[in-house]
Parts: sequence; structure tokens; C-alpha cells
Amino acid sequence: MTAKGFIPKTYKNLIEKGSYIWSSPSNIALVKYWGKKENQIPENPSISFTLDNCKTTTTLSFSKKENNNGFLFDVFLDGEKKDNFKPKIETFFKRIEAYSPFLKDYYFKIETSNTFPHSSGIASSASGMSALASCLMSIEKELNPEITNEHFTQKASFLARLGSGSACRSLEGDLVVWGKHDEIDGSSDLFGIKYPFEVHQNFKNYNDTILLVDKGEKQVSSTVGHNLMHNHPFAQERFKQAHSNLSVLINVFKTGDLKSFIEIVESEALTLHAMMMTSMPYFILMKPNTLEIINKIWAFRQKTNSNVCFTLDAGANVHVLYPESETEKICEFIKNELVAYCQKGEYINDKIGFGAKLL
Ligand code: PMV
Repeated sequence: MTAKGFIPKTYKNLIEKGSYIWSSPSNIALVKYWGKKENQIPENPSISFTLDNCKTTTTLSFSKKENNNGFLFDVFLDGEKKDNFKPKIETFFKRIEAYSPFLKDYYFKIETSNTFPHSSGIASSASGMSALASCLMSIEKELNPEITNEHFTQKASFLARLGSGSACRSLEGDLVVWGKHDEIDGSSDLFGIKYPFEVHQNFKNYNDTILLVDKGEKQVSSTVGHNLMHNHPFAQERFKQAHSNLSVLINVFKTGDLKSFIEIVESEALTLHAMMMTSMPYFILMKPNTLEIINKIWAFRQKTNSNVCFTLDAGANVHVLYPESETEKICEFIKNELVAYCQKGEYINDKIGFGAKLL
């Protein structure tokens, strides 16, 4: 499939107005995407767990407008009008206009809410963009009922990618691959696909407790961070490493080898931050409490032989990952030893989920 394959032919139906509601989750990368080419094409393949509780619900209402001169829309977060969200949506609409040519024909009211606290340091772009892309695909399906479910999901992911790269991994679950990888049939730079191989019982219902270390705005946006990979001295090695880490994970998922899983996942998290620390200009997104938590996790693992591990996003918050069988033990550990390092003691219990849903 090429990008051109997502340009629709003429629509069968005419519709005046309507509305759709979709909820879509966030996701957490195990092999990280950091570095992109033009048109949101990733420099390396990535794989993520789809989350369950951290999600965005979006209602998209639409009505035919008088002319088709430009985009017309309003955005609301939790019922409050948010004009400062409009430039991001406008950019998104411009990027996807060729693939969703009905965009200028309607006025859109976008009403959105997140289950996780706003400004929790958890990016809402993955859940938000995938929910909005799903709503747009529901309109496309009404305009052209012939499109298959497979095309629907694939194109929703394709559109979400153009909103925010990692958003393309939120449409399905429980594991999603984005980016061409030689050993994964069907993998593509254009959209995420459900991980197509065997996954051991050890990884079913995997937990992710997100420790909110720093809830402030990110000092460096991911757009700036991705761009700093362009002249980065270690970029090519890093991109190669992502390919080989994903190759190793294929066997890890098959055999249930949790020790190797931990090794890859933690190394990926630290490599992501190492790329930030070695770019020019360089920056650090971890906070002292991020490191305190990492050290506590390592000490606990050594003492108890647990399979708890951590990963990081482009921020200071820590995602604590652990198998379902260790839920009780790790929840105790988190309460007793890690919560003290969270801002206002706040954290979110989440686990692997299955993607976007039409409500
Ligand atoms: O989707 P973006 O452009 O916000 O980039 C996200 C990149 C990381 O979250 C740091 C890694 C990833 O693969 O999700």
C-alpha cells in the first residue's frame, strides 16, 4: 500500500449532518520511535503496548456548510472552548486533506475529554489524534459504505500518524508495530499494524502503572526532539539498533522470556534519553525523582527476583511495567516505595488494552 492508495475515489452518498463518538487509548512504546523523515515517516520501526484506561473520548459533530473555501471547526475540552488547540488541528486537516477531501465541505464541532488529568505530563496527542481520525473515518464510511473494516482501521491509523506519529499505534491492540521491519510481514512506515506473531501468556494483561513525576509542560516538544536526530552523531547506529531490538523481541514474545524483555525495554528507554542528552542542542527530560525510581526498581528486582521494569516517554514520568501474575506484589512495592517520588503522590494504574472503540 502506498499513500496514494488512501485517496478516496468519488463518494457514493451525500450527507447533510451527523455525529460520531469514538474513544481511543494512549500507547507506550517498547522499542521507541525517535527521528522522522518528511511526512511523518519514521526513521526506524517501533512497537508498543496499547493502553486501556488512559484514553480520549471525542464527539465529532458535522453539518454541511455554504461553501468549501476553508476549514471551519471549533474545539472543546471538557466542555470548554479551546482556541489554542486550533492550530494543531488546522495543521492536521491540511496534512490529511488529500485523503479526506470532504473536510472543507462541513463545519465540525470537536468535543473531547481525557480520562487522565490534563497537564499530567501524559501526552494526549496519541489518544486524541487516533480518536479524531476514527471519527473522520466513520464519516468516510457513511459517504462510501463499501470500505472494508480492514481499510477503515488501516486508514484511521494512516490519518492518525499524520496528526502525531505515535498516534498510529493506538487504533488496535494489544501490541502494535509501526515502521517497516524485514521480519514482520505487512509492517509499514505509513500505518500501525497489529503485531502478527505468537505472544506468550506472560504478556497477556501486562500492567503499566504510570508514576507522575513531573506534571509540567514538556520543555522540549517531541517535534523538536525528532528533528534533532537529523544531524545527530549516533543516529544511524540508533536506527539500526531499533531494528535489531525488534528482531530480538519477536523471539521474546514467543517464548515469554521476561528477563530478555526487561533488558530490551529498559535499554530502549535509556537510549531514547541518551539521544536527547547527546543531540545539539542537548537536553535532559528526566528529573532527580525519575532516577530515584529507576534505582528503586533495580534494587527491588535484585532483592526479589521480580520481573518489574520501567520505560520512559519523552518526559520525566516513569511507566512501571509488570506481568499480571505479580500485580499484588508490585502494587504494594509501588505504594510503599515509589509513590513518595510522584508529584502530589499521583499515579495511574493502567494495563494493556485493545484500541479505539465506536461508542
Ligand atoms: O508521536 P510523537 O511525535 O509525539 O513522538 C513520540 C515519541 C516517543 O513517545 C518518545 C516514543 C514513541 O515511540 O512513542
